[in-house]
Amino acid sequence: MLRFNTPAELDQFVSLMADAGVDVFHCSTRRFWDTEFNSDQNLAAWTKKLSGKPTMTVGSIGMTGEHIDTLMGEGSNVASLDHLLYLVDRGDFDLIAVGRGMLVNPDWANKVREGRIDQLNDWHPDVLKELI
Ligand SMILES: Cc1cc2nc3c(=O)[nH]c(=O)nc-3n(C[C@H](O)[C@H](O)[C@H](O)COP(=O)(O)O)c2cc1C
Repeated sequence: MLRFNTPAELDQFVSLMADAGVDVFHCSTRRFWDTEFNSDQNLAAWTKKLSGKPTMTVGSIGMTGEHIDTLMGEGSNVASLDHLLYLVDRGDFDLIAVGRGMLVNPDWANKVREGRIDQLNDWHPDVLKELI
């Protein structure tokens, strides 16, 4: 795993990758709301700012807990999307990736677009048994 302690260190990496032809960065994090470098922006926001390229954020979108909890047999409940939408509106990143939310709601995008948040299903690891 790469670790960047400062924006300058991250810049070295993303600039190299952007120059090499990367079109979009998918910035993998367990919680999209975690911020970097004592700022109020997450990895996807910093990567977008430094690279000038579109970025995708991920990690517990619409979920109360992170996916690692699944390994401990724990579920997650549906969570508010308000903070995510605030960051989208602020232009922090361009795309979002949804893991568990999509597994239990194949129609997640339609439900969210139509404001049917109350119809979203919670996540539980037992769901994985139904997928086999
Ligand atoms: C049961 C399960 C297994 C996963 N296995 C992997 C894996 O092998 N490699 C990986 O990079 N991410 C793995 N992930 C992480 C997902 O790819 C995704 O990044 C993560 O679930 C974050 O999205 P979410 O919080 O919306 O679920 C796994 C997630 C779950 C729930």
